[in-house]
Amino acid sequence: MRLDMEEKKLDISWKEYASREELSEKDRQLLDAAINALAGSYAPYSHFNVGSAVRLGNDIIVRGANQENSAFPSGLCAERTAMFSAASRYPGEEIVAIALVASQNGKLQAAPTYPCGACRQVMAQYQQRSGKPMHIIIGSAGKIQVFDGVEMILPFIFDDI
Ligand code: THU
Repeated sequence: MRLDMEEKKLDISWKEYASREELSEKDRQLLDAAINALAGSYAPYSHFNVGSAVRLGNDIIVRGANQENSAFPSGLCAERTAMFSAASRYPGEEIVAIALVASQNGKLQAAPTYPCGACRQVMAQYQQRSGKPMHIIIGSAGKIQVFDGVEMILPFIFDDI
């Protein structure tokens, strides 16, 4: 009997830094913008604050923070707030990088907080529009993880239509 089944594997890689001081200047600047963006978070329900910042092809940085609403599904995550804001304010500019960080009770999370699935899908489409791997910086009070390409955090991206 012939077996056509193949076992396959994905290779996911990222860079891990022990602190923001170890980052490149550009990455540190974007992470700091995400930290500053926390000031705009409105999270009276979850008390979970998220800040994000995107860098555009023209090097402009646009910030966003999570916005909650008493009608729960009406809120929006920090990353999508930042990406949608950037894309609508600067049409035609690519989103080349995104940083995010989360805090609770005014303290940065001890470990990285990963973007939700919906935000990853939105990142994927901006990446597709730019044609280049998106640089993704996920910060915390401790280690910082840097990924190149949305595939590294979202394998098997839906982009069929
Ligand atoms: N949140 C984000 O802003 N980004 C994420 O990637 C995960 C979750 C927000 C949504 C909500 O306001 C709060 O965190 C708790 O889920």
